[in-house]
Amino acid sequence: MSQAPDNDPTVQPITSTNLNDLENACWHQLASGVEHEHDGFKTMTVATCTNRGADARVVVLRRVDTSHKYVWFHTDARTEKVLQLEAFPTATLLFWDKKRHVQLRLMVETRLHTDDYIADEHWESATERERKLYFSEHVPGTELSAPYPGYPDDVSEKVLSQEANQSARKNFAVIECRVLAMEYLYLSPEGQIRARFQYEPESKMTWLAP
Ligand SMILES: Cc1cc2nc3c(=O)[nH]c(=O)nc-3n(C[C@H](O)[C@H](O)[C@H](O)COP(=O)(O)O)c2cc1C
Repeated sequence: MSQAPDNDPTVQPITSTNLNDLENACWHQLASGVEHEHDGFKTMTVATCTNRGADARVVVLRRVDTSHKYVWFHTDARTEKVLQLEAFPTATLLFWDKKRHVQLRLMVETRLHTDDYIADEHWESATERERKLYFSEHVPGTELSAPYPGYPDDVSEKVLSQEANQSARKNFAVIECRVLAMEYLYLSPEGQIRARFQYEPESKMTWLAP
């Protein structure tokens, strides 16, 4: 079980026969995913509930608090997912690390931050490339008569202008996710290993039948 997945010695597997060590390894790898562009945990699928059923989309993992079990992602405050999370704050975050053959499923309670110090702090640390995404004059999902890249032509000047920056900042939202439980699944040639780490309502960790 300790063999490097795909026999690539640079890819450390996330495995252990000890539940505590395994949980630490999962959180460590999530935090590492934020820092590495091509890491399997850099992006995740956010599954939400809607009045009509379920919805899902890929987002970038922006921050992880391994001690308090929180993760954060960014989005446009005008998107469907924000409306859905306001109505149904629980969501599932699904990660698949193809190189390590590990799936993580995080059951979370979300909280929206738009005009508070948390959103300000994330906006301040966002790169110019990320900020560009919030300059769109169109509400995401609006029907258009031609393709549109998501920001206006003169966005480079706007990113530098204080006034335009403030209007883009209004479109920016941070979704804070308090992790209620994390489920781990490892696929290997010798079989599958599955475990659940529950944090709320009470802490519990256990192996599961795959
Ligand atoms: C690789 C990748 C990364 C993405 N990252 C984000 C992101 O960090 N935040 C975001 O709101 N949308 C992101 N998107 C776009 C979303 O998947 C989605 O199309 C968009 O947010 C609208 O979703 P909604 O209508 O369900 O709210 C990303 C898409 C891909 C393919």
